[in-house]
Amino acid sequence: MRIAIVGGTGKEGGGMAARWAKAGHAVLIGSRNAERAEASAKALADAGHGDITGADNATVVKQADVVVLSVPYSAHASTLEGLKEVLQGKVMIDITVPLKPPKVRQVSLPAGSAAALEGQALLGEGVRVVAALHHVSSVHLADLDHAIECDVLACSDDKEALELALTMIGDLGVKALDAGPLANAVALESLTPVLLHLNKRYGSAGSGIRFTGL
Ligand SMILES: NC(=O)c1ccc[n+]([C@@H]2O[C@H](COP(=O)([O-])OP(=O)(O)OC[C@H]3O[C@@H](n4cnc5c(N)ncnc54)[C@H](OP(=O)(O)O)[C@@H]3O)[C@@H](O)[C@H]2O)c1
Repeated sequence: MRIAIVGGTGKEGGGMAARWAKAGHAVLIGSRNAERAEASAKALADAGHGDITGADNATVVKQADVVVLSVPYSAHASTLEGLKEVLQGKVMIDITVPLKPPKVRQVSLPAGSAAALEGQALLGEGVRVVAALHHVSSVHLADLDHAIECDVLACSDDKEALELALTMIGDLGVKALDAGPLANAVALESLTPVLLHLNKRYGSAGSGIRFTGL
């Protein structure tokens, strides 16, 4: 599959790109700046991680089968406004957590209840939004020698898009779980500030979650 990562030059982007490329996907790193994307992609490809290239955000979206949105919440709406047209017809996995710096360890519900719900409303029905990957630390994603020790919840109103996302997320080396409709993104996004609190309280580089009884 051709996977575009909008904002793929960032902390989450690098680890996702390397892991998906290692699993055999073609990864397209996107950036506001094409040269920055090309440099990030070259560094990962030169390190032997697989088929990784880079270009500006709109170009990678056009070329992709599936798009991953990986930008800070402060850039969420403006990024989607800019890409709205090229995203039509695509599946988009939104990993955004609506944090409100500096209080990143405190739940902050956005006006639309969840970033993913705001994204779906902004983009319209032509884009199938899946919310996922809010609980995987960039530190663990980037540590390619180790399996990621946490489960990943994903939710969407589109069953086919959700199944596709679950398979793709499984390729990162985690157990990916169907967490229901997109409205449940409120719960998924809200758990991350709690994990950030746990990290500080217990001195962890990246706490995660595991589900039992499934
Ligand atoms: N870091 C984690 O451990 C973690 C875990 C789970 C979920 N998340 C969520 O994943 C998303 C990405 O996290 P991250 O840590 O990778 O973020 P990040 O490194 O701060 O930013 C990711 C990329 O977003 C782009 N960006 C930054 N400001 C922007 C702006 N004003 N407008 C448009 N693009 C902008 C940048 O790419 P260019 O400058 O190249 O365009 C940047 O490399 C966030 O929503 C975060 O809440 C993060």
